Amino acid sequence: MASDILIIGGGIIALATAIELKIRGCNVTVISRDNKAAATTAAAGMLAPDAEKILPGAMRDLCLRSRSLYPEWTSKLEQLTGINTGYWACGFLTPVYDVKDKNEQDNHSYWLDFQTIHQYQQGLGEEVIGGWWYPEDAQVDNRALSRALLTAAQSLGVEIKENCRVNGILISAGQITGVQTSAGVMSAEHYILATGAWTNELFPLPVYPRKGQMLSLRVPDFLTELPLNRVLYGEEIYIVPRHDRRIIIGATSEDVGFTPYNTPSGIQSLLQNAIRLFPQLKDYPIEEMWWGYRPATPDELPILGESPYSNLTFATGHYRNGILLTPITALLIADSITQHSSDALLEHFHYSRFQKNEKSSTPMFTHSANFSNGNIVKSNIETRLSLSNSSVAPSDLLQIAGKSFTSRLMTGTGKYRSIEEMQKSVEMSGCQIVTVAVRRVQTNAPGHEGLAEALDWGKIWMLPNTAGCKTAEEAVRVARLGREMAKLLGQEDNNFVKLEVIPDAKYLLPDPIGTLQAAEQLVKEGFAVLPYINADPILAQRLEEVGCATVMPLAAPIGSGQGIQTAANIQIIIENAKVPVVVDAGIGAPSEAAKAMEMGADALLINSAIALARNAPAMAQAMNLAATAGRLAYLAGRMPIKDYASASSPLTGTIN
Ligand code: GLY
Repeated sequence: MASDILIIGGGIIALATAIELKIRGCNVTVISRDNKAAATTAAAGMLAPDAEKILPGAMRDLCLRSRSLYPEWTSKLEQLTGINTGYWACGFLTPVYDVKDKNEQDNHSYWLDFQTIHQYQQGLGEEVIGGWWYPEDAQVDNRALSRALLTAAQSLGVEIKENCRVNGILISAGQITGVQTSAGVMSAEHYILATGAWTNELFPLPVYPRKGQMLSLRVPDFLTELPLNRVLYGEEIYIVPRHDRRIIIGATSEDVGFTPYNTPSGIQSLLQNAIRLFPQLKDYPIEEMWWGYRPATPDELPILGESPYSNLTFATGHYRNGILLTPITALLIADSITQHSSDALLEHFHYSRFQKNEKSSTPMFTHSANFSNGNIVKSNIETRLSLSNSSVAPSDLLQIAGKSFTSRLMTGTGKYRSIEEMQKSVEMSGCQIVTVAVRRVQTNAPGHEGLAEALDWGKIWMLPNTAGCKTAEEAVRVARLGREMAKLLGQEDNNFVKLEVIPDAKYLLPDPIGTLQAAEQLVKEGFAVLPYINADPILAQRLEEVGCATVMPLAAPIGSGQGIQTAANIQIIIENAKVPVVVDAGIGAPSEAAKAMEMGADALLINSAIALARNAPAMAQAMNLAATAGRLAYLAGRMPIKDYASASSPLTGTIN
């Protein structure tokens, strides 16, 4: 039987939400790739909106509500599973080294002067001059909690598919229709994305990994009493004592993507800061070291609730507060799905906030006003078409997968020296199709920041490409993300993908077998596939047979500017193809662009020759003219080549 709800994610947000939904009578499946990798396991389990200085506002309200749910929530879990979650209302002490840190105290925080703090907590470093006491902050043993949630979910009948990887989300007619997993396609009525730092791999939300390194010590056996009975939360360090004699020390905060492992400098800084705060730790045995990835968002707030699809809900991006926010997230998300009504608090965590702020540094999600409220801007290709290529006959349209374009020049966004130069060049090129590397947008690579607002996607058709993919499998996954990216830009019906499967970085030559495999899969999934290939006529034919929308043979290696090195083979491809032939890569000068078009190519894709020209916009215009000239020349039919001269002015009828 298909599930009512399918939750993607291996952390405690996924498990807790599954339990809440199950209790409400839903049939729930959780798909978890690797629950040990989740930030859940890495965390310290601090429930500390006060010590973490969460400012008043919606986030603080959310955190406080969640913290207040903890005692009863964990106690019920413990009753159900018999697992001690280690919930401990221990309070937090924030010692400071400098008097500037002394602020106003309120009902939640109390200033302790030098004498009081050293009396209250023996063993603090001598540099500590005072500190804050936050009695309401608490902690939980996050790993024990995770075990309890897993046990509870299983005993309640939640189906948990472990070691199952979701490769893509299937969408049709504005609905999620299933998820493609390593165990096949799975479907449900409703889907929840709780994929933390990995969210971006499945859906283009601005959630990025922020690495944290941690370690644990053990209180030596000769100490009968625990030396710490509260959390010490210092500058860039926290020390979390557990009842079971472990002491958790965290955490670094590193913007290094998914770079694994502990590093000497990470561990050194943790130890240095910890020993400064509580010197006796220097002699405690080290038990374990680990690292994890916080799911960070640009405003450091989670993304909760609605998505652009009515049957998909977001529960991700909890950044530094995932453990704290678990009960409230589970509650609000379960309520919103089962009661079809959303708690007012959720509005503040709506994904659409990333479209509203024009100054935000988020790559894809700023200012595409078309995306929120579900308004889809209709493609305005025709408007642009009338502005460019005025000499092209109206009937001479480039047709790709049922879509018409007058411009036969496609460009890209890479390698430009500035966004402005790219914008001007795209404009001067008169192109209607711009290819965008999905992976570079994902990683916010230079030239790929703010792409949502850099170009007018109401006028330019986006051609997502799979650059950077070495295998067919990777390319298929990235193509799916590309389709989501296009949708988020308002191109709801854009199913185009420029397929690149390139295993080596030196020659950047496409893998014909991988390309064919990926093309077959993507065509099956409803993509209009534009495969980038070596100029191999047989491969071109095979790709056409599997249903590709074009073929894109290379003129010479990418970015080489060597001109048309593969002319003879391109000529054969042109002769045989029934789909448009787009000459891609290697063109260095307008003469070569014109030449390819004169040969009968249907279109060109030119990026480096424009972006790397001394004056890129001027070269873009030259390429525009060359593509148009070449096309007109091809249609006009060139004169035959003769062996001997033939006078321009015929002699017949002249007077001798
Ligand atoms: N909440 C602690 C951390 O993110 O390191």
